[in-house]
Amino acid sequence: MCGITGFIGYENAAPLLIRALKKLEYRGYDSAGIAVIHDKKIIVRKMKGRINLLEESLLENPLDGYTGIGHTRWATHGEPSDINSHPHTDSDGRIAIVHNGIVENYIKLKQWLQSRGIVFRSDTDTEVIAHIINYFYRKGHGSLLQSVIEALKLLNGSYALAVICADYPDRIIAARKDSPLIAATGGAGSFLASDITALLEFTRDVYFLNDGEIAVLYQDHIELRNDEGDLIQRETTHIDWSVESAEKNGFPHFMLKEIFEQPKSLENALRPRLKKDIIDFEEIKFDKKWLEARRIVIIACGTAYHAAVIGKYAFEYFARIPVEVDIASEYRYRNPIFNKNDIYIAISQSGETADTLAAVRLIKQNGGCVIAITNAPGSTLSREANEIIYTYAGPEIAVASTKAFTSQVMCIYLLALELGRARSYIPDTKKYTDELCEIPDRIRKILDKKEIIQRFASRQYNKTKMLFMGRQFDYPVSMESALKLKEISYTHSEAFAAGELKHGPIALIDSSTLVISFATQTALFEKMASNILEVCSRGAASLVITWEGGGFFDALNSEVFTLPKSEDCFSPMLAVIPAQLFSYYCAVQRGNDPDKPRNLAKSVTVE
Ligand code: G6P
Repeated sequence: MCGITGFIGYENAAPLLIRALKKLEYRGYDSAGIAVIHDKKIIVRKMKGRINLLEESLLENPLDGYTGIGHTRWATHGEPSDINSHPHTDSDGRIAIVHNGIVENYIKLKQWLQSRGIVFRSDTDTEVIAHIINYFYRKGHGSLLQSVIEALKLLNGSYALAVICADYPDRIIAARKDSPLIAATGGAGSFLASDITALLEFTRDVYFLNDGEIAVLYQDHIELRNDEGDLIQRETTHIDWSVESAEKNGFPHFMLKEIFEQPKSLENALRPRLKKDIIDFEEIKFDKKWLEARRIVIIACGTAYHAAVIGKYAFEYFARIPVEVDIASEYRYRNPIFNKNDIYIAISQSGETADTLAAVRLIKQNGGCVIAITNAPGSTLSREANEIIYTYAGPEIAVASTKAFTSQVMCIYLLALELGRARSYIPDTKKYTDELCEIPDRIRKILDKKEIIQRFASRQYNKTKMLFMGRQFDYPVSMESALKLKEISYTHSEAFAAGELKHGPIALIDSSTLVISFATQTALFEKMASNILEVCSRGAASLVITWEGGGFFDALNSEVFTLPKSEDCFSPMLAVIPAQLFSYYCAVQRGNDPDKPRNLAKSVTVE
């Protein structure tokens, strides 16, 4: 959720904090603020609204100081407002903090502090942390570090935290529990951020903090400590994402750029796992566990969940193994059945989604081994899973996931094919890997036709209901398309298996409805044609997304968008592209910012 940054070094902190915050804006954007130590005093500037408002106010009225912290907020406790924005300070104004996460016992702590005469200014859970640190600091707990350590012991819940104190202008103290935090030294000084992308332009060698760890940042070095304050030794991790990968590079929005990056990101997911037509996952062991597995369980949230559903179809299709797919938040609370012969897969772009991590921990507590499919090196998931498959999609900045999704799907197909071969259901995977190698070029061809989708969106964006339907592999693509559309265009959209049309959704159909049908499962063309006729004859506008060539759907009263022909089973990676473009263009037509949709955050690190 929220984004955190910190800087201590040889330059003015404010402009660097703003630069880094802009890279984190996708984590939350209802308000922003910074605090800087100037002349042994803490000065806070914060306000409701996007970071550029804060930036403008800083340009008019600059802040000097070499030590500072910053925050971009996604409100949880307390509405978005100037007062509720971070940083928050203690009553003396000597300590300022920024926080990501939720202090679950904040009401109790607040009452305790109020009983000691503390007056709260905001409605946030975060403010209690500033007052508690101050409580220990005043009590004479020796040092700022010791006061932070004592304060952390009282907190239940999750946090990534950065603390500055007017009496200690030479350091920033940061701590994490269940919320990511990264620290690095390089060039102008030492940096802190909740996400790698904020640090890319400054340095690539970073420390990933583990849960319970504390980092003390000085101008020229960083100390890592455990929750008792003892020093820890750790090597930095090198990140090879390029700076440009987190820039728009001439595209009007990150989302459009990321849609267009898919040919490349899919090559990145595919190439390292293909050795002369043979699928070879160096990172995981295709051992007895895979061969003897009775069931695969896949857990994920949001878009990653839709990749998981495609995984169900793919594993069952290629490897003839039963697959259970679950939304992580449901899985963790529904008393699931564990079996040591099961294979557990967790899919998460960010590797930081709270529900997915909780489900992973539950599986591990019950003796399961978890294979992570993630895009984020150093993420919590990548450190907690037993084995990791990286999607290599590069940083995904737009809140609505596009390239991360198709890369997850590509990894899943490779896994399913390899498992099918290992379990002797597919004698030779070459026919399929040849097809997979063609996918990036086929996506390029679809992207070349983006104007067709753009024109279609400019005619349809005002429809009040948009429905997506498909069968077999087209069903999860319908789900993902409906999610994408609602996320960024705020249009009511729904997906259903086309066979369910008569069981309810048909009641919604009238002339205010647009139905987008995916029809790439050749054996089911006739069934789809009947469904499409049923919606058209009830006045709905209709678009069919299908393979080029056949002309099967041309005679229906529907527009048709064609995809370069591929194996039916691989259609999701192609069919989703026009749907992504459609969502994007609808959002733009409606005047929305597709990169920063209202109420959403890229990485949902709290429940
Ligand atoms: C949020 C994002 C979605 C994402 C989901 C799961 O809801 O807005 O785009 O699909 O979280 O995120 P993950 O990082 O676990 O894939």
